Amino acid sequence: MLNDLWYKNAIIYCLSVGTFMDANGDGVGDFQGLMRRLAYLQGLGVTTIWLMPFQPSPGRDNGYDVSDYYNVDPKYGTLGDFAEFTHACDERGMRVIIDLVVNHTSDQHPWFKEARSDPASKYRDWYVWSDSQPSNAKSGVVFPGVQKSTWSFDKRAKRWYFHRFYDFQPDLNTSNPYVQAELLKIMGFWIQLGVSGFRMDAVPFVIATKGTKVRRPVEQYDMLRTFREFLQWREGDAIILAEANVMPDTDLEYFGDEGERLPMMFNFQLNQNTFYTLATGDTNPLKKALIATKPRPPTAQWGVFLRNHDELDLGRLTPDQRAAVFAEFAPEPDMQLYGRGIRRRLAPMLAGDRRRLELAYSLMLTLPGTPVFRYGDEIGMGDDLRRHERESTRTPMQWSTEQQGGFTKHPKPPVRVISGGAYGFERVNVASQRRDPNSFLNWMERMIRMRREVPEISWGDFEVLRTSRNDVFALRYDWRNNSVLCVHNFGDEACTVRFRSGYNETGDDRLINLLSDDHSHAGDDGRHAVVLEPYGYRWYRVGGLDYLLRRTEV
Ligand code: GLC
Repeated sequence: MLNDLWYKNAIIYCLSVGTFMDANGDGVGDFQGLMRRLAYLQGLGVTTIWLMPFQPSPGRDNGYDVSDYYNVDPKYGTLGDFAEFTHACDERGMRVIIDLVVNHTSDQHPWFKEARSDPASKYRDWYVWSDSQPSNAKSGVVFPGVQKSTWSFDKRAKRWYFHRFYDFQPDLNTSNPYVQAELLKIMGFWIQLGVSGFRMDAVPFVIATKGTKVRRPVEQYDMLRTFREFLQWREGDAIILAEANVMPDTDLEYFGDEGERLPMMFNFQLNQNTFYTLATGDTNPLKKALIATKPRPPTAQWGVFLRNHDELDLGRLTPDQRAAVFAEFAPEPDMQLYGRGIRRRLAPMLAGDRRRLELAYSLMLTLPGTPVFRYGDEIGMGDDLRRHERESTRTPMQWSTEQQGGFTKHPKPPVRVISGGAYGFERVNVASQRRDPNSFLNWMERMIRMRREVPEISWGDFEVLRTSRNDVFALRYDWRNNSVLCVHNFGDEACTVRFRSGYNETGDDRLINLLSDDHSHAGDDGRHAVVLEPYGYRWYRVGGLDYLLRRTEV
């Protein structure tokens, strides 16, 4: 039984309770509303829901400024509702992971309040202080242009405190054993309420050394093993999915050589290079990123995504590459953010072109790892650039043509639903797409179903195939005597691409199309010649035997 490693062949769907569905009509989404939409998510093929922060918070960074780790923000419901929610997911065979934001707290957290006002408090040493302004106070900011420094003066404490992010997010002194113990307690608490793990926020900063003496922060990787062990002692198959936008040469430090540290990380390297390839049609950087991030322990898994709740961070591309992506997908300065990213949803970035959207998601579903969707992606939702910074892509889910897109009965919710234009709820919503067999939603549902039936992508070894064209990318997966081959054309013209399918132990070189009837036979020279539409894609199973019989179940 391979079910223990459930995260390997999962479909993860990220949502924030506050913008998903409002049941009580106060204008803010809640757990009751979310529970009414579980059948929808199950029908889409989602196996795991990732909840963004829902704990009490002043809400100055979309909930990533937590003021109580052991509760539910009353706006969203109660702890009782939360327990009902995890139970309801369990009933439907869906798992829940939640954000774990422990690099910092809100400055309104009682720990920080006590720490700043009472030097004798045990919480004083839970944060990172300095008697004078550190000379590097202006360096290392995460949000350039918005955030001024990483150290701020606190009038109560009459000292400077360290904050990697905004000044209202004081960093926890994560090297302090008491802080570490509390962190484990927080994990244990939510595990007890039925979650299957955590999307851990800002991991490189959590494990970094912090303080006035630190010139260059050093990652304390051993901490990761402590988190992992604790979690697995409590709940054998619980996971941590790390947000760690790091260079490939440190990937194994995060996973652990034997897989003893974190089981999952988002593949930011692949994400940025995917966008470069989508923008230019040059597949080389995508191939390089795949090879660079290939080494990982057998139990470890990448989280593969296109867009998330933050800006599309292009900070790891070269300046020229970044400029090329900006030119194609975010030409207006207002679409860009922090000098490195794009604050748009995917559908408007691709000008709503259904062919390119299908290409992008087909690719995401067939890259090595577990796909992570963002709510609204499945209907091609747009963004609202009038909202500040990253808020542009965090508008309410568009359910129907009813007022406020069916998200709430409240006439003026604090976060407005996108209305009017090509992406307004009147045109882009679940109800209309559900009724249309050719809608993007129904396409996505079919693709997700097929993806779940192709565990080779999650479990197998992959090889980038040589093709006759640089704008066509072909990837083959091998697992348990089965092979699957995925081809994507990034060019805007129809073309014929030639390639060898590679090793196949049956000796049968037929390619069975998994999505339609046009199969492919190798020519006399042993090569396939596949005709692709502009932005066309194919998923094949290699070999002519009845693939359904040979398909391996997990
Ligand atoms: C992570 C989150 C981001 C948040 C930051 C600070 O990067 O994804 O939304 O602002 O951490 O918690």
